[in-house]
Amino acid sequence: KPRYAVFGNPVVHSKSPQIHQEFAKQEKADIDYDRIYADIGAFAEAAAAFFAAGGQGANVTVPFKLDAYDFVDEHSERALAAGAVNTIIPLGNGRFRGDNSDGVGMVNDIIQAQGVEVAGKNVLLIGAGGAVRGVVPVLQEKQPASIVITNRTHGKAQEVAERFGIEAVEMDKLPAAHFDIVINGTSGGLSGELPAVAPEVFARCALAYDMVYGREAEPFLQFARQSGAAKTADGLGMLVGQAAFSYSLWRGFEPDIKPVIDYMKNV
Ligand code: ATR
Repeated sequence: KPRYAVFGNPVVHSKSPQIHQEFAKQEKADIDYDRIYADIGAFAEAAAAFFAAGGQGANVTVPFKLDAYDFVDEHSERALAAGAVNTIIPLGNGRFRGDNSDGVGMVNDIIQAQGVEVAGKNVLLIGAGGAVRGVVPVLQEKQPASIVITNRTHGKAQEVAERFGIEAVEMDKLPAAHFDIVINGTSGGLSGELPAVAPEVFARCALAYDMVYGREAEPFLQFARQSGAAKTADGLGMLVGQAAFSYSLWRGFEPDIKPVIDYMKNV
């Protein structure tokens, strides 16, 4: 059986094994997909051991996406843009390619599963960390009318804006009733903290999206709904979408994400 795994710390709660087994059912394939816990500072060792034992692909989650970036020998454009690797593809001869499927996962969720067009729309990105950097180039491919980035620390938003040729606007200077899609990529939700965006920013928002899923996404999505967002979505579809893109990179089979998102809502 081909062997895959997700590396993380912690990793016990990862939903990736279930998601990938659903994809394998679609493909009518028989695969192993394990969770592998690595000690901080010991990612490279753990990954090398996994591939030496015949592993055919790996996902990488918090806090190892930068270690994975350093581990691989070559990077996809997406991984370079994000500065982070969440998918490792063995090339043979002990060489590895690093990719990043987070941006593709989010954009496919928005377009395919949420049914919201990105082309021609005004998009607001909140946050300027690795999560947001990874999605910018993939959003740009879908030709939105504009992408604005805003962040608590404005300087970081300016750096990202310069790198990708988008616009940075300070959080308290965002235009009202301008954005069609508002995406929260900050980690504040983990502690129940909201980015300081005015409610008017959501006045004509068709979709408010949080990159995290479950309870952590709720404060932001609730605020967006109360402020007028027509539709909200947490990052469960992004999780399934990034897994699907990783799966296709390893196996050349493109899973259908919608039934798997519905399945994961109920497990
Ligand atoms: P990741 O790689 O997951 O994106 P990161 O690089 O640490 O993580 O970035 C976290 C992002 O969440 C940053 O944009 C951060 O804002 P700052 O650049 O000002 O630090 C944002 N963030 C974290 N906690 C926040 C909070 N309580 N309110 C607003 N933004 C917050």
